[in-house]
Amino acid sequence: MVRITEFLLLFFIFSFKQGSSTTEPADVSALKSLSDKWKNAPPSWGRSGDPCDKPWEGVLNCSNSRVTTLKLFNMGLQGTLGPEIGNLSQLEILDLSYNQNLEGPLPSSIGMLTNLEILRLIGCKFSGGIPQELGNLLQLTVLALNSNQLNGTIPASLGQLSNLNYLDLADNQLTGTLPTSTNDSSGLDMLLKAEHFHLNRNQLSGRIPSKLFNPNMILEHLLLDSNKLSEEIPETIGLVKTLTIIRLDNNFLNGSVPSNISNLTDLCVLNLANNTLAGPMPNLTELQGLNYLDLSNNSFDPSAVPEWLSNLHNLTTLIIEFGQLHGEVPQFLFSSQWLQEVRLKNNSFNGTLDISSITSSELRILNFQNNDINSITLSSNYNEKLELAGNPVCNNTQLQRTEYCQNLRSDSQSISSNNITCLQPYGGLVISRAPYNGYIEQILPQLEKGFEDFLRTKPMIINFSIWNFSFDINSYLRVELRFCHSNSKSFTREDIIELLDFNTQDLHLPDAIGPSYFSPFQYAFKNRVIRGLTIGIAVGSAVAVLIIAGLAIYALRQRRQARRAFSLRNPFAYWGSFGEDAGDAPQLRGARSFSLDELKKCTNDFSRANEIGSGGYGKVYRGTLPNGQIVAIKRSEKGSMQGGLEFKTEIELLSRVHHLNLVELVGFCYEKGELLLVYEYISNGTLRDSLSGRNQIQLDWKRRLKIALDSARGLVYLHNHANPPIIHRDVKSSNILLDDNLTAKVADFGLSTLVMNSEEGQFSIHVKGTPGYVDPEYVMTQQLTAKSDVYSLGVVMLEMITSEPALHKGKYIVSRVKMAIDKNDEEWYGLKDMIDSTLLKSGSLDGLRRFVELALSCLEESSELRLTMDNVVKEIEILLTDYESNKSTSALPFAIELGSMKDAYDETELSKQVSSQDIYRFTGRHGI
Ligand SMILES: *[C@@H]1O[C@H](CO)[C@@H](O)[C@H](O)[C@H]1NC(C)=O
Ligand SMILES: *[C@@H]1O[C@H](CO)[C@@H](O)[C@H](O)[C@H]1NC(C)=O
Repeated sequence: MVRITEFLLLFFIFSFKQGSSTTEPADVSALKSLSDKWKNAPPSWGRSGDPCDKPWEGVLNCSNSRVTTLKLFNMGLQGTLGPEIGNLSQLEILDLSYNQNLEGPLPSSIGMLTNLEILRLIGCKFSGGIPQELGNLLQLTVLALNSNQLNGTIPASLGQLSNLNYLDLADNQLTGTLPTSTNDSSGLDMLLKAEHFHLNRNQLSGRIPSKLFNPNMILEHLLLDSNKLSEEIPETIGLVKTLTIIRLDNNFLNGSVPSNISNLTDLCVLNLANNTLAGPMPNLTELQGLNYLDLSNNSFDPSAVPEWLSNLHNLTTLIIEFGQLHGEVPQFLFSSQWLQEVRLKNNSFNGTLDISSITSSELRILNFQNNDINSITLSSNYNEKLELAGNPVCNNTQLQRTEYCQNLRSDSQSISSNNITCLQPYGGLVISRAPYNGYIEQILPQLEKGFEDFLRTKPMIINFSIWNFSFDINSYLRVELRFCHSNSKSFTREDIIELLDFNTQDLHLPDAIGPSYFSPFQYAFKNRVIRGLTIGIAVGSAVAVLIIAGLAIYALRQRRQARRAFSLRNPFAYWGSFGEDAGDAPQLRGARSFSLDELKKCTNDFSRANEIGSGGYGKVYRGTLPNGQIVAIKRSEKGSMQGGLEFKTEIELLSRVHHLNLVELVGFCYEKGELLLVYEYISNGTLRDSLSGRNQIQLDWKRRLKIALDSARGLVYLHNHANPPIIHRDVKSSNILLDDNLTAKVADFGLSTLVMNSEEGQFSIHVKGTPGYVDPEYVMTQQLTAKSDVYSLGVVMLEMITSEPALHKGKYIVSRVKMAIDKNDEEWYGLKDMIDSTLLKSGSLDGLRRFVELALSCLEESSELRLTMDNVVKEIEILLTDYESNKSTSALPFAIELGSMKDAYDETELSKQVSSQDIYRFTGRHGI
């Protein structure tokens, strides 16, 4: 008997253990069916029959044989999400974010996962509506579906998610009104545990319901910016005392701002810009904690600077552009000792601008452009940027040529922390949608610390660095981070899922970052096992691209017979008008889609008057978006060369790259057979225009060095930091644009091509580019490398010295310069007769010889002998530093004496007329 009992007991224990280590078959088959619909499922999937015990990548947790955590973010999954997901009924965490090719509708069976606490499907390509069944997930605390292509309305059922803390539906194409509860349906007002409503960048419309807010809520972040919300801001907003961030900018809100907004005494960020709010500017005296305030571009009553500003002692950023403010700029404007940035352009300030009372040592930007200020009182307390162009005070001949009036900004550089590099970094962007500060140097150290602390809790295999940052048109901050394996290995899928999961609660980023998330770039996993096969596929797809490109050209030549080839020239043919069938739509980051009507409206129906250029692609128009932003719109000519292919390449590439020295894609339109690209408008035209004297902008030597540096930096970003790397292929002076501050931005990636496999070598395709700039080795071998761009930049550098076009009446600038060079000529290097006369007039050309030598080393016939773009950047940086230090030792004393006149443009008589030591006064109209 005893033996039998023991036996039974043993048997029981054994089978129990077996049971706990064997995954429930239902879960195994659900996972298998899911992966059947995916290309690029992780290789471990299906290798064992037991995902819990012999883990499949991404199956991170099991409990009682059931899968409870599934995380497969940024795994390059491609395909759809099958309804079988609903069978994983014990799931508590599901994260399939950043699989850019995971598409199709969200299955309603997700609503069966009633144990789900965290659902993240960020940055995929899901389309269709948000299933109302999500309202059944009563345990949900995090629901993040942002940056997909979801449309339809926000289901009222989400109001049932009584445990929800974080709701993020931003950056989709959601329409309709914000649902609030009624007698027989729930609504967002019932989410009493929610701290985050992130619904920005959709197409939500109608009134913001007053029912949306109530005093029982604990909402902190309310992001409704860039929607189509209209009518008045409801007074009830003043009931949610926990709010710290409100962004309602870029909507169609009108009426006056409810006065009880001043009840929100915890508010740190308030952005109401770009609406049509009217009445008096709201009295914000009580908002003592406010850091960031933007009231630009509304219809508030004209007034003097409101006195309550003097009470906002914590203000860091004040932006009231196009604000109808008038009178003198009062001293109290500068009373906050934390002030970092004041932007008040396009108001009607008059009289004297006196900045001698500035107390903040962190102030970096003062912009008073386009006002009516006719004198200024400077102060040695403030030596940073002061922008005054467009004011009568700039008529003063002494000021005219200083940076104040010329509007030449020093480069806002891309920064990097410790600048670590590795072959296969894991990169991505921290996107902050409402940073408290405009002065990013304040935030970066904190951001860095947040990541360091987070990584410290992990095995120490990862280094990281911050590469560059920018504010995009939505005033979202983007900071690019890179992570390197400290053993310089490449990351595995496990590394990424387990160590580089930054969307967890463990990552404590500083409050000042505001609501943010980490959006990783796609990672090229090394498939150790089947490397041969991978190369085969890469070559195979390269061949396919060649065939397609070839066919497209063929189709063009045979325009008459083009109908058959239509789907090739137009890869969006199956994509359809935006929103309905987002099938294979391009995957975009940060760019938005416009309707044709919208673009017609903002270009006055593509009127001739708005035409600003034309290119291989079609015509370029200037337009003004409803938010006041000026844009350049490229419109393809119907049947223009490879329109479809170039279009898709271009929007995908451009939306992925963000760099100060690259022209930014604002959006695109693909509708009714029309392909349009919307770029930021770059005000000062092309470098070629300036060199040829067509646009009155005279570039002195230092400025030319900076333009060369800017351009090279933009290209380094494309070569080394874009993921995948990009070769520009058409670098030329007419593709380098100059902005307000004469910062150069490289444009036109239409001819770019992805670098297929940087290790394996080159990628060849039909030779393109512009005569005069094309790398001769590329022409001969058809092998394209990043060095081809180096060559083209070398040509541009020679243009910058001579101002001659690269190819002119059969004369090639490169051979002309090479022939003219005389190494014995110490001063001019034999080029005196060729140097641009404007340049000769503009003063010292220190470093000319080194610059020419640098250009020539870019122009080596053999690409192997050429420098890399990285080297070019470093060389020009050294040149500029030397130039500047030479200048400061040899310059007239005014530069030193007049601390606040940094970088003044020429040595006028200024210094002689300055009397006081600390405060200088300049008067516009009437002279001093
Ligand atoms: C603004 O409100 C404060 C009290 O909250 C009040 O003392 C002040 O007079 C108001 N300012 C104006 C200009 O109405
Ligand atoms: C400035 O403008 C105000 C009206 O906005 C006017 O009353 C005042 O006289 C002007 N001051 C000067 C110095 O022009």
